[in-house]
Amino acid sequence: MSNPNWSLLSLLVLHGPNLNLLGRREPGIYGSVTLDEINQLLEQDAQKLQAKVFARQSNHEGILVDAIHEALGQHQGILINAGAYTHTSVALRDALAGVAIPTVEVHLSNIYQREAFRHHSYIAPIAIGQISGFGAESYRLGLQALVHHLRKLDTG
Ligand code: DQA
Repeated sequence: MSNPNWSLLSLLVLHGPNLNLLGRREPGIYGSVTLDEINQLLEQDAQKLQAKVFARQSNHEGILVDAIHEALGQHQGILINAGAYTHTSVALRDALAGVAIPTVEVHLSNIYQREAFRHHSYIAPIAIGQISGFGAESYRLGLQALVHHLRKLDTG
């Protein structure tokens, strides 16, 4: 029987509103890296970690909720940057809690160094953990943390 520790993991990467503009959007805050470049980095990292990532971006809350529901039975983990919905969306939080798929929350910017309205996350209480402030590296660190968590679950 194959060692579950090394089975291929399937992971959903979800990008929320305005992240399609990365590269041109407030580069002083979010850097110059584009969303495509982030997804490519994650694909390369995932390969080394014996995982496969499926990335989706939407500016629409309901589409993100649907994507989370569709992850059931398809993906073992979720890496999410919910963008501004982090701070507003009970629906996204409830969807993640509802499917109970281990989730890591990431942010490019350090949300705690910014405006007070960004300091609260509806997702953080139901996530395994949160990585914030490292630019595109936040996603890469988040992916590593998610895979590490899932492998630990595998081996008990
Ligand atoms: C963000 C932080 C959010 O406050 C903001 O609304 C975003 C991006 C980040 O990655 O730093 O859209 O999630």
